[in-house]
Amino acid sequence: MREFEPSRTAMTVAMLRAAHQIMDTPRVFEDDLAVSILGEHAQPMLRSLIGAADDEIESISLRAFLAARSRHAEDCIARAVQGGIEQCIILGAGLDTFAYRCTDARLRIFEVDHPATQAWKRTRLLGENIPVPASLAFVPVDFAQTSLEQELIKAGWDAARPSVISWLGVVQYLTRDTTMKMLAFVASMPPGSEIVFDYAISPDLMNAAQKKYFETLQPRLAASGEPLQTCFDPAALVAALEALGFGAVEDVAPDRLNALYFRGRADGLRTMTTISHIIRARV
Ligand SMILES: C[S@@+](CC[C@H](N)C(=O)[O-])C[C@H]1O[C@@H](n2cnc3c(N)ncnc32)[C@H](O)[C@@H]1O
Repeated sequence: MREFEPSRTAMTVAMLRAAHQIMDTPRVFEDDLAVSILGEHAQPMLRSLIGAADDEIESISLRAFLAARSRHAEDCIARAVQGGIEQCIILGAGLDTFAYRCTDARLRIFEVDHPATQAWKRTRLLGENIPVPASLAFVPVDFAQTSLEQELIKAGWDAARPSVISWLGVVQYLTRDTTMKMLAFVASMPPGSEIVFDYAISPDLMNAAQKKYFETLQPRLAASGEPLQTCFDPAALVAALEALGFGAVEDVAPDRLNALYFRGRADGLRTMTTISHIIRARV
């Protein structure tokens, strides 16, 4: 990321979540703040994105993946909360709106993000009159530079109680070293804690369509100041998580997402060229 600029990819994925609310029936992911959090100035861009929507499999696939990713993560959070967890950490929150839609006042939510992105989001929230619940704490952190644990504790996080963590669309922009350090920190949390995150698979495991997409994606991300830094072999990552002490590790590939969330649709919405998997792992 560029040090003093909010994340551009955060805007891109938020825009596609908003497009999903308008373009797709039935919705896989319900987010009644997805459009407004973009801000008034972004609405023409959203309208032209929707107007220009074509049948390019890359754009359909990305919108489908982003909707399924958020749905999957929020389903995990809901199950964790039902199981008694009362702390939720959203890492690299971008314009994620879970905290502003959450109706469970017992759930303490920590939104962690790069300082520049978080400051921009807070301006968006103010500008759109989206109330910030008392149960939410903002935690500005650059994962590559600052101790996440210390900043969470300063913000009131209780290290002695389990947490559920959502970490969407971030790992690919971090180094392997930073990613593994953060996963080791989560593994050190009390039993019952769990994390859901997505990651890009290694190019040598991609099929031809995925590889073609990956080759066009890489230069675009680099130009936006957020180059793709890390890819993983799913089997090796699952083994690394188990070695860190995670128990139940579930790796969800795009085909499984299609079976879970897109079966029987008439409109063809589903993941196709998606290069990411989603992992859910419990301490
Ligand atoms: C693609 S966006 C995803 C945002 C959000 N999770 C979502 O799904 O809408 C990537 C996010 O990672 C954050 N990020 C990237 N590198 C970071 C770093 N070194 N420290 C903290 N946050 C970082 C960005 O600020 C941005 O919010």
